[in-house]
Amino acid sequence: MLSQSLLRRVLTSLLLSSTVWSTYVVHEKRESAPSGFVHLSSAPDDQMINMRINLAMRNQSGLEAALEKASSPTSPNFREWLTKEQVESFAAPTNETVNAVTEWLSSFNIISTPATPAGDWIKFTAPVKTANQLLNTQFSVFNHTGSGHTYVRTLGYSIPSDLQPHVKAVHPTTSFNGPLRARSPITAVSVAKSASSVEKRTTVPADCNSTITPSCLQDLYGIPTKLVSPSTKSKLGVAGYTPQNADAEDLATFLKEFRPDLPSNLTFITELYDGATNIQDGTQAGLEANLDTQYTVGLVNGIPTVYEDIGYTTKDGPDDGYLDSINYLISQEAPPLVFSTSYGFDEESALSLSLTDAYCNAIMQLASRGVSVTFASGDGGVASSPDLQCEGSPFPPTFPTCPYATLVGATQNIPEIGAGLTAGGFSNYFPQQSWQADAVNAYIDKLGTTYAGLYNASGRAYPDVSAQGGTVEIIINGHADYVGGTSCSSPIFSSVIALLNDELMSAGKPPLGFLNPWLYANPQAFNDITSGNNPGCGTEGFSASEGWDPVTGMGSPNYAAMRTAAGL
Ligand SMILES: *[C@@H]1O[C@H](CO)[C@@H](O)[C@H](O)[C@H]1NC(C)=O
Ligand SMILES: *[C@@H]1O[C@H](CO)[C@@H](O)[C@H](O)[C@H]1NC(C)=O
Ligand SMILES: *[C@@H]1O[C@H](CO)[C@@H](O)[C@H](O)[C@H]1NC(C)=O
Ligand SMILES: *[C@@H]1O[C@H](CO)[C@@H](O)[C@H](O)[C@H]1NC(C)=O
Ligand SMILES: *[C@@H]1O[C@H](CO)[C@@H](O)[C@H](O)[C@H]1NC(C)=O
Ligand SMILES: *[C@@H]1O[C@H](CO)[C@@H](O)[C@H](O)[C@H]1NC(C)=O
Repeated sequence: MLSQSLLRRVLTSLLLSSTVWSTYVVHEKRESAPSGFVHLSSAPDDQMINMRINLAMRNQSGLEAALEKASSPTSPNFREWLTKEQVESFAAPTNETVNAVTEWLSSFNIISTPATPAGDWIKFTAPVKTANQLLNTQFSVFNHTGSGHTYVRTLGYSIPSDLQPHVKAVHPTTSFNGPLRARSPITAVSVAKSASSVEKRTTVPADCNSTITPSCLQDLYGIPTKLVSPSTKSKLGVAGYTPQNADAEDLATFLKEFRPDLPSNLTFITELYDGATNIQDGTQAGLEANLDTQYTVGLVNGIPTVYEDIGYTTKDGPDDGYLDSINYLISQEAPPLVFSTSYGFDEESALSLSLTDAYCNAIMQLASRGVSVTFASGDGGVASSPDLQCEGSPFPPTFPTCPYATLVGATQNIPEIGAGLTAGGFSNYFPQQSWQADAVNAYIDKLGTTYAGLYNASGRAYPDVSAQGGTVEIIINGHADYVGGTSCSSPIFSSVIALLNDELMSAGKPPLGFLNPWLYANPQAFNDITSGNNPGCGTEGFSASEGWDPVTGMGSPNYAAMRTAAGL
């Protein structure tokens, strides 16, 4: 069905460029904007919008197969990660795709440029009027009332049917998300500092039951403390999103207090994208950013740690930052080999399936290069985000449940139990993965009919692993503070991976890279956590139990056992 204006446009382009675009078909639509967004007006015709299009990869199934070969512990090609050029040769769109899309855009006088080295993302800037015609839609301005930020979005758009196989995602269109939020590193209200009558069950000091410091983690997980060689090939990255700032002076104070054994000049490297500034003024230090830098630099014994700071210049919405963070790393010759993110939201209300899928494909490219991509699983229990209303409805999954990412849940106390705030459950966007099927189905069997209809038993299950997120001590603006949540767990777990990578690469072996198939194949490498549950949506949530569970995944790190499992 062609609208009048579209028919006119098709006829015009027929006259101008002799291109006949096939019938426009709806590519994506949603019923309404998610709660928290209010429609204000149609977007002004002359407002410029920065658009990106994700083009079909030349050989996505080939890349998937290559990654499976490299990441399956039983494969003869185990850990033979791909080079940048190899990944690009799979990811680059075909000439047919490029030509079809270029021709379509140019019939609207739009000239695009590649946004990634492989050219699987292209970008252009166009007035709203042109974008409306291109996508046979009407862009509107929506107010994100929580932040007061306005976004130009639409509830649906179409593309010519001939282009459907070539175009995977168009952004910004139907994805709605407020400014990126840290995984709410919850500030602990009261901290019991004395625990004198504690019975010692492990060699971990009793104080660690109430407050986690780097030495608690070293004791609890057996993390090495020795300074790595200056020539280490291991490198770690942590994501930071504006307005968070990671404070170097606070890190210095933290190291002096908690790692006096390390050189006092150790710090993080800063890479700034999208207009980020990482303001160095103690009063503007962010809990999340300080946590992420202190619980990486403070644990990795001198392994270079990059604070990947993503700003907010495009104003088209924070989803850009997510894409940018991964695409920036993809474009680097030697990206950090672990990349930890402690920011997120929930799966379905924010990003469309197509954008989530495109984002996941970017993570796949990075994972294929031997990068372990880790995420905090979220802090709302089975509700994913702490403020989500879901009583009586299915548990809303977290973002991202991309199978190429490793999701990290939180534990607390010693001995460890699953932390109640851990987001855990089952994706509606991505299916259960073969490497997790046995472990996850064993749990689903135990669950029986409990919560039937509230979770998707055929979805990709998470978290994959867990680490401490109880009451973790950090330094902010010169003072001690206590934070908790999966925000702590992701950098802590990632530091363990970075240390194993250092040992592996020093021994001439490849880094751990895409972790999940290996994690699930090596349950003995983790401390199985069997108690704790993650309430939410008016329920008690899932319960931790023997083996994998949707609170603590496969468990928390056991460095010595992981080392052995890694082949060291
Ligand atoms: C895609 O990659 C796979 C694995 O390398 C290869 O076997 C296959 O021939 C490729 N397909 C195309 C269309 O290039
Ligand atoms: C694809 O396009 C590139 C650049 O325009 C060209 O060099 C190459 O020969 C083309 N390949 C095919 C198979 O047409
Ligand atoms: C957006 O919503 C906020 C909160 O309700 C309000 O203060 C602000 O004025 C709104 N912005 C616009 C442009 O309407
Ligand atoms: C650790 O702390 C928890 C909660 O504060 C408490 O219930 C538990 O008894 C403590 N464990 C030990 C060994 O003291
Ligand atoms: C830190 O100090 C050590 C000597 O203690 C020196 O070798 C090293 O180069 C310094 N590193 C930086 C980044 O300044
Ligand atoms: C459940 O997960 C499957 C596999 O990913 C998916 O196809 C299906 O749409 C999901 N169901 C719901 C209700 O979202």
